[in-house]
Amino acid sequence: MDRVKATTLREMKERGEKIVMLSVYDYPTARLAEEAGVDILLVGDSLGNVILGYPDTLSVTMDEMVHHTKAVSKAAKRALVVGDLPFMSYQASVADAVRNSGRFLKEGGAQAVKVEGGRNVLKSICAMVDSGIPVMGHLGLTPQWIHQFGGYKLRGKTSGTARMIIEDAKTLEKVGVFSIVLECMPWELAKLITDEIEIPTIGIGAGSHCDGQVLVLHDILGLSGQYPPKFVKQYAKLDKVVAKALQDFRREVKGGKFPTIKQSYEIPPEEKKKLLAELKQRASS
Ligand code: KIV
Repeated sequence: MDRVKATTLREMKERGEKIVMLSVYDYPTARLAEEAGVDILLVGDSLGNVILGYPDTLSVTMDEMVHHTKAVSKAAKRALVVGDLPFMSYQASVADAVRNSGRFLKEGGAQAVKVEGGRNVLKSICAMVDSGIPVMGHLGLTPQWIHQFGGYKLRGKTSGTARMIIEDAKTLEKVGVFSIVLECMPWELAKLITDEIEIPTIGIGAGSHCDGQVLVLHDILGLSGQYPPKFVKQYAKLDKVVAKALQDFRREVKGGKFPTIKQSYEIPPEEKKKLLAELKQRASS
């Protein structure tokens, strides 16, 4: 079983094999994704909203990201593990960018990092690539920029913004980024970019012409506790299954139906006899 590498993805694009990526955050779900043959396990900064209960991704820290990346890396055998650089871990300085992306590889066990932005964060991206760190780009709706964008909105609807995104994609390819996530943009724009560059594009809300697709595991399993965005397809509705299991457990504990003898341990009969005899003798002396 050959490990998926940053360099393998380009070969997949060349032979027209779609790339499957999932955002996961812990060992048990990463193990299931690995067993299902998912190519890339992204430890996304969506960790903030999906797992940690934050309103958005902006307050996620490097320590939180590294902690979860360690767990995901332990489950990954074939899949490429990508750590997502959180807000302000690469924007303030090039030194921050190199040090923090290095932490994903040294401490987290990831093989690559993802960074939101194009020419606006180019110095940081170039320094990471020059340090030997494989970098995945992220263009379109970049959630770390929501306050500048005025919310979670489709990007690249006008010819001006579409042109900027195309230029960003070409620039990222030129400086050695190995793949680019295209989030929430018209499918025509994602297709133009995918046809224009040789590195693979991985879409989320960007139509079917990208070289791969990424979604958040909790969204596709129906576990995110909210109405999913238009671009999500739910492959299961686990929230209902989990809710029923938890209600059943509560009811059985309250009603004295759990545990039964099946879930209990017993003293071996000989030892039980001895113990009862000893207790009886002690009580009568
Ligand atoms: O944080 C994340 O999970 C992501 C993906 C949805 C692309 O950035």
